[in-house]
Amino acid sequence: MSASAPLLAVKHLSLSYRSGHQWRQVVHEVSFDLRAGEMVALVGESGSGKTTTAQAIIGLMADNARRDGGEIRLNGENIADWSQKRLSQLRGVRISLVPQDPGNSLNPVKTIGAQVDEILRLHTDLSAAARRSRVVALLTRVGLSHPQQRVDHYPHQLSGGMKQRVLIAIALALSPDLIIADEPTSALDVTVQKRILDLLDALRRESGTAVLFVTHDLALAVERADRIIVFRHGEIQESAPAAQLVAAPQHPYTRQLLRDAAPPRTARRAPDRLATPAISAAAIGKSFALGKNQRLQALHNVSFEVARASTHALVGESGSGKTTLARILLGFERADSGSVTLEGAPVSGLRGEALRQLRRKIQFVYQNPFASLDPRQTLLQIVEEPLRNFERLSAAERRQRVEAVMA
Ligand SMILES: Nc1ncnc2c1ncn2[C@@H]1O[C@H](COP(=O)(O)OP(=O)(O)OP(=O)(O)O)[C@@H](O)[C@H]1O
Ligand SMILES: [Mg+2]
Repeated sequence: MSASAPLLAVKHLSLSYRSGHQWRQVVHEVSFDLRAGEMVALVGESGSGKTTTAQAIIGLMADNARRDGGEIRLNGENIADWSQKRLSQLRGVRISLVPQDPGNSLNPVKTIGAQVDEILRLHTDLSAAARRSRVVALLTRVGLSHPQQRVDHYPHQLSGGMKQRVLIAIALALSPDLIIADEPTSALDVTVQKRILDLLDALRRESGTAVLFVTHDLALAVERADRIIVFRHGEIQESAPAAQLVAAPQHPYTRQLLRDAAPPRTARRAPDRLATPAISAAAIGKSFALGKNQRLQALHNVSFEVARASTHALVGESGSGKTTLARILLGFERADSGSVTLEGAPVSGLRGEALRQLRRKIQFVYQNPFASLDPRQTLLQIVEEPLRNFERLSAAERRQRVEAVMA
């Protein structure tokens, strides 16, 4: 390897997915380089092919995906044709992936400690005790609270942002040459996000780790990355050093992205503060087991009201109880204490038909889209379900409504 050879060189990479008998190409002849210690951001709209590209680089493509052509060179060596067995020697050791989807990427029946430990056990000679302290150190480094207790927790006991940090800990465990981070901080509050990105920066400085940072967030990419690649419809629109991209964007799509990065505030209706509130929560308390004889108070005496026709933002750091509170409002989870009323009627204690009717009034958009959709159902079946439950419509009418709402 010559001193100037890039760590990673992607050349004319084209990737397709099969649906039925049809192959559809979603990434077309993409080429870019990444040097040691460099952070390159891959930015682009949803569905533009960022994750597909990231997965292809590390050789973890979906079962129905294929590479139509192109090369993936790591230190000059084309790894695109390597077998899974050979690639598995590389993954986690020289290249790591922080996957986009924290919900599906952890094993639900293994503790998070065991999952971080696995990579150390496979690739180092450390004793079990030494590995355990490394695991705790890694969990501390990614900013997980109570790491000593958390090692023995299962994924379902963690918030979405905490799971994301466990995946980051696994990716960092062996200080690889290249980390591919697919939306690594999108479930994290700004404080934890900064901590994770600072950690990646430190790794770049200390060990020359290169980072391919996949993100929707152009502002964040500009702040953090050396270079930015703008992706659209599976093609590179523009690739430039971050400062140059902001100062003189070449492509109209890049200019559009830069404008959208600072959206204007929209006008809103004034809520009617005198009417019965849409939601009112009174003194909600909820705790979870943390370890033996130890409990974590997730919600402590939470009270608030949401007026009709108003939008309220629930803001807080990762793990502060936002999702737990939402689940209690919806009747998915029972509070230890306190009460919830919806349009004046108590929610706590609702059962059977009354609980079913509540679903007409209050709906939830989940944090983790991957784990929330049934993989055996088509999008039509998933979206029409509430219509089936609550409306008398023909199949054709339901399909029409689903198409309209999807558009
Ligand atoms: N397993 C799959 N089978 C068929 N098509 C797929 C599959 N995974 C992704 N696609 C399609 O490939 C295209 C690129 O998807 P990809 O997940 O790479 O986008 P992305 O840029 O990562 O989007 P996002 O920002 O939403 O994560 C999309 O059109 C998507 O519908
Ligand atoms: Mg993606």
